[in-house]
Amino acid sequence: MTGPGGVLPAGEVEAPELPGFDATRPNVARVYDFLLGGKDNYAADRAEAARLTGVFPLLPLRARQNRLFLARAVSWLAGQGVRQFIDIGCGLPTVQNTHQVARAADAGCRVAYVDRDPVVICHARALLSGPGVIAVPGDLADPDAILADPALRAVIDLAEPAAVIVAMVLHFTDAATARGITEAITRALAPGSFVVISAGSGDAQTGAMLAREYQAGPLFNHTPAQIGALFDGLELIPPGLADATCWVPGRAAPPLPARLSGGHIVAGVGRKPAPANPAAFPPAAKHKLGAPWPAASPAPHKALLVSAAVFCCPGPASTVRAESTRRSR
Ligand SMILES: C[S@@+](CC[C@H](N)C(=O)[O-])C[C@H]1O[C@@H](n2cnc3c(N)ncnc32)[C@H](O)[C@@H]1O
Repeated sequence: MTGPGGVLPAGEVEAPELPGFDATRPNVARVYDFLLGGKDNYAADRAEAARLTGVFPLLPLRARQNRLFLARAVSWLAGQGVRQFIDIGCGLPTVQNTHQVARAADAGCRVAYVDRDPVVICHARALLSGPGVIAVPGDLADPDAILADPALRAVIDLAEPAAVIVAMVLHFTDAATARGITEAITRALAPGSFVVISAGSGDAQTGAMLAREYQAGPLFNHTPAQIGALFDGLELIPPGLADATCWVPGRAAPPLPARLSGGHIVAGVGRKPAPANPAAFPPAAKHKLGAPWPAASPAPHKALLVSAAVFCCPGPASTVRAESTRRSR
């Protein structure tokens, strides 16, 4: 606190006003950062993570499985020629951030990180942004506003195909709202664009326990069918909607039951198809328009496939492990 005349007592530094920052309450991005083994968290976040892992010990593993799914998806998309990525609800910087994975395939990839948490945006601007990589505040409550943001549009050309990532964020809203969000995003994208989605899903008991312990905000337990509905208007890329650990591009994954037992991450990648009459479509959006899926698409980096093999369910894991061993010879 400042003294008379606005002068600080010797040796004291006034903390800057930071809207939305409160270290004493658990925060969505910081709890997740702790689950991933990050350092940008406080006692309140760690206490919440301890409560969550107390009722569901696999939670830190699920968070890592989600990041590995994202890395495989982004790597595959970059291999398909996607050069623009919008990562909404990006979270605090971690390892294998979207632009790093995409730029391993092509250094020209452009990325917009978006989050509603101003501290996330501060960190992303300090650690991630640079030429062709931007971090902008935005709330999924208004996806049209996010995609209309002039700062984002300076980096991302929505007349061309882009990939929008909404990972581990749609379970913070109810199913109907989440569906409205992905519908708006899908509508705004050019044909040939992609939407990458992951969300938590589990049995009623696990969902209720996690929702009870999660004090950073409301938590919704969407069924696989509700998460599948988020891909309406999109073609699901094989293996389709899958447990995140089993999502390996072009490889079969076990079908999802109506309700998973325990807690899992359900994930998928959808592509916006070409319009029925491509001639009526603006000429700018011609990239891969209507192109069929190649039988053998460029494989993600070998390390990413191995990462799937380590965690994945038995079928695809053994296939992937054999495949990656063959390639390494
Ligand atoms: C669990 S983290 C997921 C981070 C990253 N997407 C991932 O999958 O690793 C959720 C992030 O979404 C952000 N978030 C939550 N609700 C949001 C909203 N309505 N709009 C934008 N960001 C949101 C949080 O601030 C947090 O950074």
